[in-house]
Amino acid sequence: MEELRMELGPNSYDILLQKGLLDRAGELLSLDRQVLIVTDSGVPRSYAARLARQCRAPVTVRLPQGELTKRFGMLQRLLRRMLQAGFTRESCVVALGGGVVGDLAGFAASCYMRGIDFYNIPTTLLSQVDSSIGGKVAIDFEGVKNIVGAFYQPRRVLIDPQLLSTLPPRQLANGLAEVIKAGVVAEAPLLALLEQEDALSHLDQILLGALRFKKRIVEQDERESGPRKLLNFGHTIGHGIESVCGISDGKGLLHGECVGLGMLPMCTDPALRLRVGKLLERYGLPTHLPFDPNAVFAAVCHDKKSTAQGVTVVIAEEAGGARLKEVSLDWLHRLIEREAEEGIGR
Ligand SMILES: NC(=O)c1ccc[n+]([C@@H]2O[C@H](COP(=O)([O-])OP(=O)(O)OC[C@H]3O[C@@H](n4cnc5c(N)ncnc54)[C@H](O)[C@@H]3O)[C@@H](O)[C@H]2O)c1
Ligand SMILES: [Zn+2]
Repeated sequence: MEELRMELGPNSYDILLQKGLLDRAGELLSLDRQVLIVTDSGVPRSYAARLARQCRAPVTVRLPQGELTKRFGMLQRLLRRMLQAGFTRESCVVALGGGVVGDLAGFAASCYMRGIDFYNIPTTLLSQVDSSIGGKVAIDFEGVKNIVGAFYQPRRVLIDPQLLSTLPPRQLANGLAEVIKAGVVAEAPLLALLEQEDALSHLDQILLGALRFKKRIVEQDERESGPRKLLNFGHTIGHGIESVCGISDGKGLLHGECVGLGMLPMCTDPALRLRVGKLLERYGLPTHLPFDPNAVFAAVCHDKKSTAQGVTVVIAEEAGGARLKEVSLDWLHRLIEREAEEGIGR
């Protein structure tokens, strides 16, 4: 079993990685108490049943799958269930799902009785390498993503790669976009691993590389005032594209697909851009997309991360060597226009 310790003073916790950990939750987490298991309708039912068997007093809530679940109504539903079941400060919440479940369940744990123990057992690649560690929990509100939330670290995270065996290929690729991001930003060997013919047979190594990357950055900057901004590589334009072309009614692009597109123009070295483009293609992620540059630019400006003067973007001049750069909104507008003309990735 691989063990990574997230060193955050009193908020420190372990991230454990091994196939089959779901069936060892009873031994690795403290479940001899009231446990709210939060999952969703896309996660195989058997996963929650296997977890519930290991808890003394489980209450399972299965929410509808999809981003729409990250809202006040669902938060209320979780809080109500805990209240009805007589949960106390000694009770805990376990998220068993992707980032949607993790963000919502973590937020519920952060505010029930001013905070009870929270464990995360992520079941998508994206949540295993990204959202389950770092302590950002949130819901969406008034159409704005993640606008109501908290920093609330889990007590422990169990990463069980076996759970990914049921994940649809497109969701796997969605998570791989964030792994490619980690490689470009600071992990050249991870990028090289992804380029290997048989990369996916080394899934544990891929997970470990991506987790080490995120752990290091979060440790340096728990509350996102500096280095953690590096995690936004590909996300400035990516979020803009997501606002305009993102998933709705089952159509449109997933987050990772938009981030992949957003990374390409931020690779300032043409050879690196080519490398990233090839990787995206290989893992079934889009590399070009016609879009309306003004709509994407407007969405970028709308994003809470930009100010009137400008915006901090992350650029990569070489594999493993990304850095922050202050740019004007004009600069960004021109970049987006150029990409739209050429078609991102061409
Ligand atoms: N907190 C953070 O730091 C952070 C970071 C990145 C993303 N996020 C958030 O994460 C969310 C996206 O997470 P996601 O990509 O995991 O999406 P998701 O949680 O919506 O899961 C994607 C789909 O996969 C299904 N699914 C989950 N596990 C499965 C499994 N093992 N087998 C089959 N199907 C399975 C789900 O039901 C869902 O339909 C967004 O809301 C985003 O804002 C948070
Ligand atoms: Zn992302």
